[in-house]
Amino acid sequence: MRRRQLVKALPFSIAGGFLGAVTTEAQEQRRALTPDRYDDFAIWLDAARESALELIAISGADDTERFMQFLALWTTAMPEIPEPEWQEIAGANARLDAATVSLGRPFVVTALRFASGCVLPAHCHPGGGGVSLCTNGSLSIRHFDLLEGSADFSETGSVAEVEAVSTTLLRSRQFTEFTPTRANLHELEAGPGGATVVDVIVQWRRAGEFSFLKFQGGPSVTRDSVGRRRSGTWVGMDISRAYASAA
Ligand SMILES: [Fe+2]
Repeated sequence: MRRRQLVKALPFSIAGGFLGAVTTEAQEQRRALTPDRYDDFAIWLDAARESALELIAISGADDTERFMQFLALWTTAMPEIPEPEWQEIAGANARLDAATVSLGRPFVVTALRFASGCVLPAHCHPGGGGVSLCTNGSLSIRHFDLLEGSADFSETGSVAEVEAVSTTLLRSRQFTEFTPTRANLHELEAGPGGATVVDVIVQWRRAGEFSFLKFQGGPSVTRDSVGRRRSGTWVGMDISRAYASAA
């Protein structure tokens, strides 16, 4: 009997959920929290901020996982950003530019533009969560957890141990995300055609400080499989000090 039920249920499992009409009052109320379709970045930004502030008013933002899920949903609806004022980050292994797209509450939008093969070494976002959306080209992004007992990022020169928790190849319109306590470190490497990444970032505490982590034992970018543990040294905010030398 049970087997028969499972077999009968299978086609529905394959087909996925049925998208019926939204009719209940609770769903009506939630409609304001979910994104529409947007062609204009400024309109998307206003709607996303208003919605995020409404979510905070309803249930707060203490649940960092839930808040980042919410922001990921909105980030997938983000239209093309207006051309920002790029500033070169000196010391990178290839041309790397950064830009502030929008400051404000409860999230900021920033962007990075990578030349082909450019690597942004592993770094942390203390007290922050973020969604990284590839908007042009392709890149690899590898996230790490800082292992318990490791030195704090502020202890420049100290050794920290991390574990690779994901390795993702992103193309345009694909994203990854992290929270203050999960996958908070990441490194990025642009593909052969370069890449642009737009970050939507929330700070729960201590904004504006971070550190690169220089891995020991040679370049990490082609080596880290999920679960692999590595040691590195916190080197502060100067990118030129963060590139690992060959073993
Ligand atoms: Fe980052």
